[in-house]
Amino acid sequence: MLSTRPTPGDTSWFVHDRFGLFIHWGTYALAARHEWVKQYEQIPDEVYDQYFRHFDPDLYDPEVWAQAAADAGMKYFVVTTKHHEGFCLWDSALTDYKATNTPYGRDVLRPMVDAFRARNLRVGFYHSLIDWHHPHFVIDDVHPARNHPERARLNAERDQRLYAEYLHGQVRELLTQFGDVDILWLDFSYPGPNGKGRDDWQSEKLYAMVRELRPRIILNDRLDLDEGWDIKTPEQFQPREWVRFNGQPVVWEACQTFSGSWGYHRDEASWKSVDQLVQMLIDTVSKGGNLLLNVGPTGRGEFDQRALDRLAGMGEWMKRHSRAIYGCTQAPEEFKVPQDCRLTYNPEKKRLYVHVFAWPFVQLHLDGFAGKVEYAQLLNDASEVKMSTPPAHQVALESEPRNTLTLHLPVQKPNVTVPVIELFLK
Ligand code: GLC
Repeated sequence: MLSTRPTPGDTSWFVHDRFGLFIHWGTYALAARHEWVKQYEQIPDEVYDQYFRHFDPDLYDPEVWAQAAADAGMKYFVVTTKHHEGFCLWDSALTDYKATNTPYGRDVLRPMVDAFRARNLRVGFYHSLIDWHHPHFVIDDVHPARNHPERARLNAERDQRLYAEYLHGQVRELLTQFGDVDILWLDFSYPGPNGKGRDDWQSEKLYAMVRELRPRIILNDRLDLDEGWDIKTPEQFQPREWVRFNGQPVVWEACQTFSGSWGYHRDEASWKSVDQLVQMLIDTVSKGGNLLLNVGPTGRGEFDQRALDRLAGMGEWMKRHSRAIYGCTQAPEEFKVPQDCRLTYNPEKKRLYVHVFAWPFVQLHLDGFAGKVEYAQLLNDASEVKMSTPPAHQVALESEPRNTLTLHLPVQKPNVTVPVIELFLK
């Protein structure tokens, strides 16, 4: 078993639970063409303001969101309290740019936290370090106003330290007014001459405050600090192996979207299928990681049908296969990963799970498994899977002994997204 770099935060529940929901929600949901729309299209504040003036999610019901996440098998959620656009979902005392001042007129964060907690999901806050609305956030090369003809003059009136104070004050609100927050996800740093990093955020001071307020909170790795973070967060790609830092395996979480954009995007056509998403979850856990899968709710306050269909499809699989995910991690190295498969392993129960991505014809050969398995069954219906080891004369023909255990599978693939064989180890 790989031992991971120790974390200041409490990651014990996290590496057990494995599967969470990311929510990107803000006024960009109304533009419905990416949460970076203000930056991409260099939209000035006075124009972008139209989304604030029309933010009225009349169909918003966080109970429905929380239920969809719970039914999908998710165990925690992370919501954008503020994204780069600067809009705040809660009733912050430090700004007017918040949900309570839109036509909707209410705090949308608090009822969300309550609804998810009521279903035993842990609570995480994504909070943007970047802020394209705050008057003291110095305009850099990533800012929507980066090409403003009077950028230098505008910046002369800006004091980034005042912005950092605002940032710290809001993080304090978030960590003191919403009960036990389990995860803080700060996003993101881009150090360099025309970027922003630890000095701009006053990261060390911010870090000290976070640990003082909530010593065991799980903190991500985007504050531009070498130490102190708990999790690495690869984004929109699947790492090829267990994520490492300075050679040492770490606690990690892949964050992924359904279609590319994090915020609601009406016209995006690159939606992943349920098959791909289930495989993504399995692939992540087989490398010792977590999956944080994102929904971008609409401006009316709903998860759209494409998202609901996928969550339901994943839940259908999780209903029968979640024990190959919860409490599981990468399999010990002695077990070779068979062709077209992934392995997950529950070290406490001593069970190995073979996730079959491409259903083979009857025989599935497992190298390194001979003599180690007591019983095998299909996980979806607990039907026995017969096992055999090759006869001695056949083994003699192999150039090196492979300790192969052969499973005898039904010709027809079980009617589930990804069939799993549960192996009870001796
Ligand atoms: C990026 C993007 C962003 C998204 C985030 C999720 O840093 O700026 O829009 O929120 O990644 O990981």
